[in-house]
Amino acid sequence: MKVAVINFSGNVGKTTIARHLLAPRIEGAEVVAIESINADEDQARALKGKQFGELQEFLQTVDNVVVDIGASNVEDLLGLMARYRGSHEDFDYFVIPTVPALKQQQDTIATLTQLARLGIPGAKLKVVFNQVEDDVKVNEAFDTLLAFIEQNRITQVSLQCKLGTNEIYARVKGTGKDLADLASDTTDYKALIVKAQGLDDKLALAQKLATRRLALGVVPELDECFAALELR
Ligand SMILES: Nc1ncnc2c1ncn2[C@@H]1O[C@H](COP(=O)(O)OP(=O)(O)OP(=O)(O)O)[C@@H](O)[C@H]1O
Ligand SMILES: [Mg+2]
Repeated sequence: MKVAVINFSGNVGKTTIARHLLAPRIEGAEVVAIESINADEDQARALKGKQFGELQEFLQTVDNVVVDIGASNVEDLLGLMARYRGSHEDFDYFVIPTVPALKQQQDTIATLTQLARLGIPGAKLKVVFNQVEDDVKVNEAFDTLLAFIEQNRITQVSLQCKLGTNEIYARVKGTGKDLADLASDTTDYKALIVKAQGLDDKLALAQKLATRRLALGVVPELDECFAALELR
């Protein structure tokens, strides 16, 4: 399965969702970040036709992949997808993370509109409602986006495709750690904390214990969200 994670908005959780929701649940899938294709400091951060050509070639050589498209490349990528007619067919699904802030809902509407304009069928567009607070209902937090979707019928959404705000993502950011691995870590941290001599060592172990507890809580939520996406 080949999945693109996309939204015009930055900071909606594209990278988080690619790494922690999608890749661990799609067998053999690695995450490819489009940002990294053109990380050269001196160059404009535009996605060039040549690189898009390379991406298309790469997609033909893998069975399972999650492509994380940095917000700064989305516009270029969509332009190139329009030029290379039918190239969107390389992806089975487009996962579109969104968060409750109004600007991000509006950007999500623009993203869905552009994807639909490319001819991508609604069944391939999957919205993930990210950073939904515990006491908040998805249909209330995302009323602007949902009203648009209802009216335009670009896609169908599942309100179960949601993730709460959780500090575990910040804790593991950049470490490459897998949340399911962290959750299944059986280290007896309490025993180690008792044995540790210095305060710093005790605190470091306490951090690991807290991270495991957060991971244990968040993995079932990620499982539920992934199931609700119905990628098949
Ligand atoms: N559900 C969540 N709970 C808590 N923090 C989150 C959640 N989702 C994302 N974040 C945090 O929000 C920030 C932005 O997330 P992320 O980097 O995944 O966004 P992005 O859409 O990939 O942004 P960009 O377009 O800049 O690449 C990160 O610090 C991340 O850890
Ligand atoms: Mg990102």
